[in-house]
Amino acid sequence: MTLIQTRDLFRSTLSALYQEREIDDLFKRLIHHYFQWESVKIALEPDYLLTATEQEKINTSLPLLQAAVPFQYVVEKSHFYGLDLYVNSAVLIPRPETEELVAWILQEEINPLHLMDLGTGSGSIALALKSQRLSWKITAVDISSEALKVAQYNSDKHSLTVDFLQRDLLSLDTSGFEKQDILVSNPPYVLPSERKKMHANVLDNEPEVALFVPENDPLLFYRAILEKGKELLNPKGRIYFEINPLCCDALIELCHSFGYTDVVVKHDIFQKKRMLKMSLE
Ligand SMILES: C[S@@+](CC[C@H](N)C(=O)[O-])C[C@H]1O[C@@H](n2cnc3c(N)ncnc32)[C@H](O)[C@@H]1O
Repeated sequence: MTLIQTRDLFRSTLSALYQEREIDDLFKRLIHHYFQWESVKIALEPDYLLTATEQEKINTSLPLLQAAVPFQYVVEKSHFYGLDLYVNSAVLIPRPETEELVAWILQEEINPLHLMDLGTGSGSIALALKSQRLSWKITAVDISSEALKVAQYNSDKHSLTVDFLQRDLLSLDTSGFEKQDILVSNPPYVLPSERKKMHANVLDNEPEVALFVPENDPLLFYRAILEKGKELLNPKGRIYFEINPLCCDALIELCHSFGYTDVVVKHDIFQKKRMLKMSLE
Protein backbone atom coordinates (compact mmCIF):
# COMPACT_ATOMS: atom_id res chain seq x y z
CA MET A 1 0.00 0.00 0.00
CA THR A 2 1.05 3.59 -0.51
CA LEU A 3 1.41 6.06 2.33
CA ILE A 4 -1.82 7.86 1.43
CA GLN A 5 -3.74 4.59 1.06
CA THR A 6 -2.55 3.55 4.50
CA ARG A 7 -3.61 6.91 5.94
CA ASP A 8 -7.03 6.44 4.31
CA LEU A 9 -7.29 2.95 5.80
CA PHE A 10 -6.70 4.51 9.21
CA ARG A 11 -9.41 7.09 8.50
CA SER A 12 -12.01 4.49 7.52
CA THR A 13 -11.12 2.04 10.30
CA LEU A 14 -11.09 4.56 13.13
CA SER A 15 -13.91 6.85 12.03
CA ALA A 16 -16.34 5.53 14.65
CA LEU A 17 -13.94 6.46 17.45
CA TYR A 18 -12.18 9.64 16.43
CA GLN A 19 -12.66 12.78 14.36
CA GLU A 20 -10.77 12.80 11.04
CA ARG A 21 -8.36 15.44 12.39
CA GLU A 22 -7.53 13.23 15.39
CA ILE A 23 -7.01 10.18 13.15
CA ASP A 24 -4.63 12.13 10.91
CA ASP A 25 -2.77 13.26 14.00
CA LEU A 26 -2.51 9.67 15.31
CA PHE A 27 -1.24 8.54 11.92
CA LYS A 28 1.40 11.28 11.80
CA ARG A 29 2.57 10.46 15.34
CA LEU A 30 2.79 6.77 14.45
CA ILE A 31 4.90 7.22 11.34
CA HIS A 32 7.12 9.58 13.27
CA HIS A 33 7.44 7.10 16.12
CA TYR A 34 8.20 4.07 13.93
CA PHE A 35 10.15 5.60 11.05
CA GLN A 36 11.03 9.14 12.21
CA TRP A 37 9.18 10.49 9.16
CA GLU A 38 7.99 14.07 9.38
CA SER A 39 4.29 14.59 8.69
CA VAL A 40 5.13 16.56 5.53
CA LYS A 41 6.14 13.24 3.92
CA ILE A 42 2.43 12.43 3.51
CA ALA A 43 1.97 15.56 1.39
CA LEU A 44 5.29 15.29 -0.46
CA GLU A 45 5.33 11.54 -1.14
CA PRO A 46 1.71 10.31 -0.97
CA ASP A 47 2.49 7.49 -3.41
CA TYR A 48 5.48 6.21 -1.46
CA LEU A 49 5.08 2.43 -1.36
CA LEU A 50 5.59 1.07 2.13
CA THR A 51 7.94 -1.89 2.41
CA ALA A 52 6.47 -5.10 3.83
CA THR A 53 8.20 -4.48 7.18
CA GLU A 54 6.96 -0.90 7.36
CA GLN A 55 3.45 -1.96 6.45
CA GLU A 56 3.41 -4.71 9.04
CA LYS A 57 4.67 -2.43 11.77
CA ILE A 58 2.05 0.16 11.16
CA ASN A 59 -0.76 -2.35 10.61
CA THR A 60 -0.22 -4.01 14.00
CA SER A 61 -1.09 -0.75 15.71
CA LEU A 62 -4.38 -0.31 13.87
CA PRO A 63 -6.44 -3.01 15.69
CA LEU A 64 -5.14 -1.66 19.01
CA LEU A 65 -6.20 1.87 18.16
CA GLN A 66 -9.51 0.48 16.92
CA ALA A 67 -9.96 -1.19 20.34
CA ALA A 68 -9.51 2.29 21.89
CA VAL A 69 -6.11 1.49 23.39
CA PRO A 70 -4.48 4.86 24.17
CA PHE A 71 -1.72 5.89 21.75
CA GLN A 72 0.92 5.85 24.52
CA TYR A 73 0.20 2.18 25.29
CA VAL A 74 0.28 1.32 21.57
CA VAL A 75 3.76 2.78 21.15
CA GLU A 76 4.73 1.98 24.78
CA LYS A 77 6.05 5.47 25.26
CA SER A 78 4.97 8.65 26.98
CA HIS A 79 6.75 11.97 27.02
CA PHE A 80 6.99 13.51 30.50
CA TYR A 81 8.93 16.60 31.49
CA GLY A 82 11.62 16.08 28.85
CA LEU A 83 11.89 12.33 29.40
CA ASP A 84 10.66 9.58 27.10
CA LEU A 85 9.21 7.07 29.53
CA TYR A 86 8.34 3.45 28.77
CA VAL A 87 4.72 2.77 29.71
CA ASN A 88 2.49 -0.29 29.65
CA SER A 89 -0.93 -1.13 31.02
CA ALA A 90 0.48 -1.60 34.55
CA VAL A 91 0.97 2.16 34.91
CA LEU A 92 -1.06 5.30 34.54
CA ILE A 93 -0.10 7.32 31.48
CA PRO A 94 1.57 10.38 33.03
CA ARG A 95 -0.60 13.48 32.63
CA PRO A 96 0.25 17.09 31.73
CA GLU A 97 -1.24 18.22 35.08
CA THR A 98 1.42 16.19 36.81
CA GLU A 99 4.11 17.98 34.80
CA GLU A 100 2.71 21.15 36.33
CA LEU A 101 3.17 19.65 39.80
CA VAL A 102 6.80 18.81 38.96
CA ALA A 103 7.36 22.34 37.63
CA TRP A 104 5.94 23.82 40.85
CA ILE A 105 8.22 21.73 43.06
CA LEU A 106 11.26 22.69 40.97
CA GLN A 107 10.32 26.33 41.19
CA GLU A 108 9.95 26.20 44.99
CA GLU A 109 12.73 23.81 45.97
CA ILE A 110 16.35 24.55 45.12
CA ASN A 111 18.47 23.12 47.92
CA PRO A 112 19.73 19.53 48.09
CA LEU A 113 17.22 17.38 49.89
CA HIS A 114 15.59 14.03 50.55
CA LEU A 115 12.31 13.46 48.77
CA MET A 116 9.82 10.61 48.68
CA ASP A 117 7.28 10.00 45.88
CA LEU A 118 4.28 7.98 47.09
CA GLY A 119 2.44 6.02 44.38
CA THR A 120 5.13 6.45 41.75
CA GLY A 121 3.63 4.41 38.86
CA SER A 122 5.95 4.75 35.86
CA GLY A 123 8.34 6.74 38.07
CA SER A 124 7.31 9.90 36.26
CA ILE A 125 7.46 12.41 39.13
CA ALA A 126 10.52 10.92 40.82
CA LEU A 127 12.53 10.62 37.60
CA ALA A 128 11.57 14.04 36.26
CA LEU A 129 12.65 15.64 39.54
CA LYS A 130 15.88 13.63 39.62
CA SER A 131 16.67 14.64 36.03
CA GLN A 132 16.53 18.29 37.09
CA ARG A 133 18.06 17.98 40.58
CA LEU A 134 20.78 15.34 40.44
CA SER A 135 21.88 16.01 44.04
CA TRP A 136 18.48 15.09 45.49
CA LYS A 137 18.14 11.71 47.18
CA ILE A 138 14.85 10.32 45.96
CA THR A 139 12.88 7.31 47.17
CA ALA A 140 9.69 6.19 45.45
CA VAL A 141 7.11 3.64 46.52
CA ASP A 142 4.21 1.87 44.88
CA ILE A 143 2.00 -1.05 45.83
CA SER A 144 2.20 -2.58 42.34
CA SER A 145 5.21 -4.75 41.56
CA GLU A 146 4.41 -4.47 37.83
CA ALA A 147 4.43 -0.69 38.03
CA LEU A 148 7.74 -0.78 39.89
CA LYS A 149 9.30 -2.88 37.09
CA VAL A 150 8.31 -0.11 34.67
CA ALA A 151 9.69 2.59 36.99
CA GLN A 152 12.99 0.71 37.41
CA TYR A 153 13.24 0.23 33.64
CA ASN A 154 12.78 3.97 33.15
CA SER A 155 15.33 4.72 35.83
CA ASP A 156 17.91 2.48 34.10
CA LYS A 157 17.02 3.84 30.67
CA HIS A 158 17.79 7.39 31.75
CA SER A 159 20.60 6.54 34.22
CA LEU A 160 18.74 8.34 36.99
CA THR A 161 19.14 6.80 40.42
CA VAL A 162 15.97 6.54 42.48
CA ASP A 163 15.30 3.92 45.19
CA PHE A 164 12.12 2.16 44.14
CA LEU A 165 10.39 0.14 46.85
CA GLN A 166 7.24 -1.94 46.95
CA ARG A 167 5.13 -0.60 49.83
CA ASP A 168 1.49 -0.07 50.67
CA LEU A 169 1.30 3.59 51.55
CA LEU A 170 -1.82 2.93 53.60
CA SER A 171 0.20 0.86 56.05
CA LEU A 172 3.68 2.27 55.56
CA ASP A 173 6.20 1.40 58.26
CA THR A 174 8.20 4.61 58.46
CA SER A 175 10.81 3.34 60.91
CA GLY A 176 13.20 2.10 58.20
CA PHE A 177 13.35 5.39 56.30
CA GLU A 178 15.62 8.40 56.62
CA LYS A 179 13.84 11.64 57.44
CA GLN A 180 12.53 13.38 54.34
CA ASP A 181 12.36 17.06 53.42
CA ILE A 182 9.57 16.59 50.90
CA LEU A 183 6.77 14.12 50.29
CA VAL A 184 5.06 14.24 46.92
CA SER A 185 2.09 12.25 45.74
CA ASN A 186 -0.37 11.98 42.91
CA PRO A 187 -2.43 9.23 44.53
CA PRO A 188 -5.57 7.60 43.13
CA TYR A 189 -8.26 10.28 43.43
CA VAL A 190 -11.05 9.57 40.95
CA LEU A 191 -14.45 8.87 42.48
CA PRO A 192 -16.40 5.90 41.06
CA SER A 193 -19.28 8.35 40.41
CA GLU A 194 -17.00 10.22 37.97
CA ARG A 195 -16.78 7.12 35.74
CA LYS A 196 -19.62 8.26 33.51
CA LYS A 197 -17.79 11.37 32.35
CA MET A 198 -14.54 9.48 31.61
CA HIS A 199 -13.44 8.22 28.20
CA ALA A 200 -13.74 4.50 27.50
CA ASN A 201 -10.07 4.35 26.53
CA VAL A 202 -9.09 5.43 30.06
CA LEU A 203 -11.57 3.17 31.83
CA ASP A 204 -10.85 0.08 29.74
CA ASN A 205 -7.10 0.39 29.65
CA GLU A 206 -5.57 2.25 32.56
CA PRO A 207 -5.10 0.36 35.87
CA GLU A 208 -8.01 0.72 38.29
CA VAL A 209 -5.60 0.71 41.24
CA ALA A 210 -4.02 3.90 39.88
CA LEU A 211 -7.27 5.73 39.34
CA PHE A 212 -10.00 5.07 41.86
CA VAL A 213 -10.61 5.82 45.48
CA PRO A 214 -13.67 4.63 47.45
CA GLU A 215 -16.71 6.91 46.99
CA ASN A 216 -17.26 7.04 50.76
CA ASP A 217 -13.64 7.94 51.56
CA PRO A 218 -12.17 10.15 48.82
CA LEU A 219 -9.36 11.42 51.05
CA LEU A 220 -8.15 7.95 52.05
CA PHE A 221 -4.67 8.25 50.51
CA TYR A 222 -4.18 11.88 51.51
CA ARG A 223 -5.09 11.11 55.13
CA ALA A 224 -2.57 8.26 55.23
CA ILE A 225 0.17 10.50 53.80
CA LEU A 226 -0.63 13.39 56.15
CA GLU A 227 -0.44 10.95 59.07
CA LYS A 228 2.83 9.36 57.91
CA GLY A 229 4.22 12.80 57.11
CA LYS A 230 4.35 13.57 60.82
CA GLU A 231 6.79 10.68 61.29
CA LEU A 232 8.66 10.93 58.00
CA LEU A 233 9.24 14.64 57.55
CA ASN A 234 11.97 16.82 58.99
CA PRO A 235 10.77 19.94 60.85
CA LYS A 236 9.47 22.42 58.24
CA GLY A 237 9.20 19.57 55.72
CA ARG A 238 6.78 20.07 52.85
CA ILE A 239 4.12 17.95 51.19
CA TYR A 240 3.03 18.45 47.56
CA PHE A 241 -0.15 16.79 46.33
CA GLU A 242 -1.93 16.50 43.02
CA ILE A 243 -5.63 16.63 43.88
CA ASN A 244 -9.15 16.11 42.65
CA PRO A 245 -10.64 19.64 42.43
CA LEU A 246 -13.91 18.25 43.82
CA CYS A 247 -12.20 17.43 47.11
CA CYS A 248 -10.03 20.51 47.50
CA ASP A 249 -11.89 22.23 50.33
CA ALA A 250 -12.30 19.07 52.39
CA LEU A 251 -8.64 18.26 51.90
CA ILE A 252 -7.49 21.71 53.02
CA GLU A 253 -9.52 21.24 56.19
CA LEU A 254 -7.94 17.83 56.71
CA CYS A 255 -4.41 19.28 56.30
CA HIS A 256 -5.17 21.90 58.96
CA SER A 257 -6.64 19.28 61.28
CA PHE A 258 -3.32 17.41 61.13
CA GLY A 259 -1.53 20.63 62.09
CA TYR A 260 0.05 21.42 58.71
CA THR A 261 0.46 25.11 57.93
CA ASP A 262 1.00 27.42 54.94
CA VAL A 263 -1.44 25.41 52.84
CA VAL A 264 -1.34 26.76 49.28
CA VAL A 265 -3.65 25.75 46.41
CA LYS A 266 -2.42 25.95 42.82
CA HIS A 267 -4.60 25.88 39.73
CA ASP A 268 -3.68 23.97 36.58
CA ILE A 269 -3.74 25.50 33.10
CA PHE A 270 -7.46 24.75 32.89
CA GLN A 271 -8.03 26.88 36.01
CA LYS A 272 -8.90 23.83 38.11
CA LYS A 273 -7.71 23.54 41.71
CA ARG A 274 -5.18 20.78 41.01
CA MET A 275 -2.25 21.03 43.43
CA LEU A 276 -1.69 21.59 47.11
CA LYS A 277 1.42 22.42 49.08
CA MET A 278 1.81 22.56 52.85
CA SER A 279 4.44 22.62 55.58
CA LEU A 280 5.02 20.79 58.80
CA GLU A 281 5.74 23.17 61.69
C1 LIG B 1 -2.62 8.25 39.96
S1 LIG B 1 -1.35 7.04 39.86
C2 LIG B 1 0.07 8.10 39.81
C3 LIG B 1 1.25 7.52 39.08
C4 LIG B 1 2.42 8.50 38.89
N1 LIG B 1 2.88 9.03 40.15
C5 LIG B 1 1.99 9.65 37.98
O1 LIG B 1 1.71 10.74 38.53
O2 LIG B 1 1.99 9.50 36.75
C6 LIG B 1 -1.36 6.40 41.51
C7 LIG B 1 -0.34 5.32 41.80
O3 LIG B 1 -0.55 4.91 43.17
C8 LIG B 1 -0.34 3.51 43.26
N2 LIG B 1 -1.08 3.02 44.45
C9 LIG B 1 -2.40 2.74 44.56
N3 LIG B 1 -2.67 2.30 45.80
C10 LIG B 1 -1.50 2.31 46.49
C11 LIG B 1 -1.13 1.96 47.81
N4 LIG B 1 -2.04 1.51 48.69
N5 LIG B 1 0.16 2.09 48.17
C12 LIG B 1 1.09 2.53 47.29
N6 LIG B 1 0.80 2.87 46.02
C13 LIG B 1 -0.48 2.77 45.62
C14 LIG B 1 -0.86 2.95 41.95
O4 LIG B 1 -0.29 1.69 41.68
C15 LIG B 1 -0.43 4.06 40.97
O5 LIG B 1 0.82 3.76 40.41
